[in-house]
Amino acid sequence: MGQPGWKGVIEEYRSFLPVDETTPVVTLFEGGTPLVPAPRLSERVGAEVRLKVEGANPTGSFKDRGMTLAISKAVEAGAEAVMCASTGNTAASAAAYAARAGIRCVVVIPEGHVALGKLSQALVHGAEVVPIHGSFDDALAIVRDIEAVGPAVVVNSINPHRVMGQMSGAFEIVDELGDGPEVVCIPVGNGGNITAHWRGYVEYRSMGRARTLPRMFGFQAAGAAPIVEGRVIEEPDTVATAIRIGNPASWYAAAAAASESGGAVEKVTDEEIVRAYRLLAAEEAVFCEAASAASVAGLLKTGAPAGCRVVCVLTGNGLKDPTLAMSHVTVPQAVDATSASVLRALGW
Ligand code: F0G
Repeated sequence: MGQPGWKGVIEEYRSFLPVDETTPVVTLFEGGTPLVPAPRLSERVGAEVRLKVEGANPTGSFKDRGMTLAISKAVEAGAEAVMCASTGNTAASAAAYAARAGIRCVVVIPEGHVALGKLSQALVHGAEVVPIHGSFDDALAIVRDIEAVGPAVVVNSINPHRVMGQMSGAFEIVDELGDGPEVVCIPVGNGGNITAHWRGYVEYRSMGRARTLPRMFGFQAAGAAPIVEGRVIEEPDTVATAIRIGNPASWYAAAAAASESGGAVEKVTDEEIVRAYRLLAAEEAVFCEAASAASVAGLLKTGAPAGCRVVCVLTGNGLKDPTLAMSHVTVPQAVDATSASVLRALGW
């Protein structure tokens, strides 16, 4: 999206990515997402907080940043099919970019734990969806296993092109602020995105485009916090289904990003996540996913140094999971189709 004339992640950041003039660019003009000031949140925490609204990407999540590169490179290499395990957003993004490229897309998902919006995207874009009686971690193990026999390129974040494309999230933040923020808060599932953002900041500083590096704070859901607890969680559980992961693929890279930056990976409860999710929608008018709100829940829990510049990465769009949204509001009853009835319903 971005400003008029925005050309998508590959064209905007070509010199940082492994592409040349022969690479077929598969793009939906992703990236260029808004960095929205959050005045009420800023007041609450005593810092200058901005929200990177990744739900504004073409398929509604940050996954598109890495998927444009992963699919372009797969097509360049002659792949006719791609495959991923997913809690939903990777599936939706892979399905869309594969449709654009005209190649097959197979997605393996944990049955019953993928939000409706994401599942509908994968199906409508024409992916071959295989739900399993198991978790995301089981699905990823299966996909890795199948890749070894060769029929499809895996486009999970174990594919290095995904992480490279996702560095663009950090590039955009620096381009807009003129330097790195002091603190970044970001949700952690598989750990790919915190790794990508950190590499983005490091890369930008080494090129002289930023002077400072942020401290990276990653947040896992308390029922799915393997990095925080230092052990694989066999049966991860959280309302934030996007980050319902017990054995992250980028475990060590994510932990290293947090510690090298002087930050940390911490956990927030489902209650704290839902509180942040509702607060963002009601007070800042940004409707994000529950998983995305983990970043703000973490900021509210741990605080930030007074006056510093904080960016919370809101990874996906709230419309992805209407079921969750509806379970946290009172659904009004219909009334007669008269002005009097509507006035009565409003108590006016
Ligand atoms: N936020 C959202 C909305 C996500 O969909 C994900 C991951 C994350 C945060 C965590 O990012 O895995 O790079 O640490 N979703 C993956 C998927 C697992 O299959 O869509 P991460």
